[in-house]
Amino acid sequence: INVLSVSKQEKYEELLPQIEALVSHETNLIANMANVCAALKFNFNWLWVGFYLAIDEELVLGPFQGPVACTRIKKGQGVCGASWQENRSIVVANVHEFPGHIACSSLSNSEIVIPIYTNAKKFLGVLDVDSEELNYFDQIDLKYLELLVNKLFK
Ligand code: SME
Repeated sequence: INVLSVSKQEKYEELLPQIEALVSHETNLIANMANVCAALKFNFNWLWVGFYLAIDEELVLGPFQGPVACTRIKKGQGVCGASWQENRSIVVANVHEFPGHIACSSLSNSEIVIPIYTNAKKFLGVLDVDSEELNYFDQIDLKYLELLVNKLFK
């Protein structure tokens, strides 16, 4: 057992207040999303982490870190579009088994998508994270990533 390894939960517990502090002095959504991606990517080393923004009935690529990605996703398409349509977070253990999954990178094997709403229940877009590891995302990622978007983007 590697006693020095920090658990996923501990990482989130440490990182979330730092991210909150990072964005608390800036009101611009894009600037804050950009820094959130950078902070998450640097700390977790995920393959891809980024935002898609709801613009004119489509999800349009926003700030992200990782390989180039597809720029537009329709409602119901892929994991992101399904999350929008069903108004819920989606954890995909194996993207190759998800019907309609949009493969932006052939290296991606698992994925989590969190929908983002304003206080007034307006849909803003989604946070999407991809991992090279199969079955990477669990209830801990779900809990903390939902907490993060709900705190940050109101
Ligand atoms: N895989 C996503 C598309 C976005 S990329 O992973 C960055 C989907 O199926 O919605």
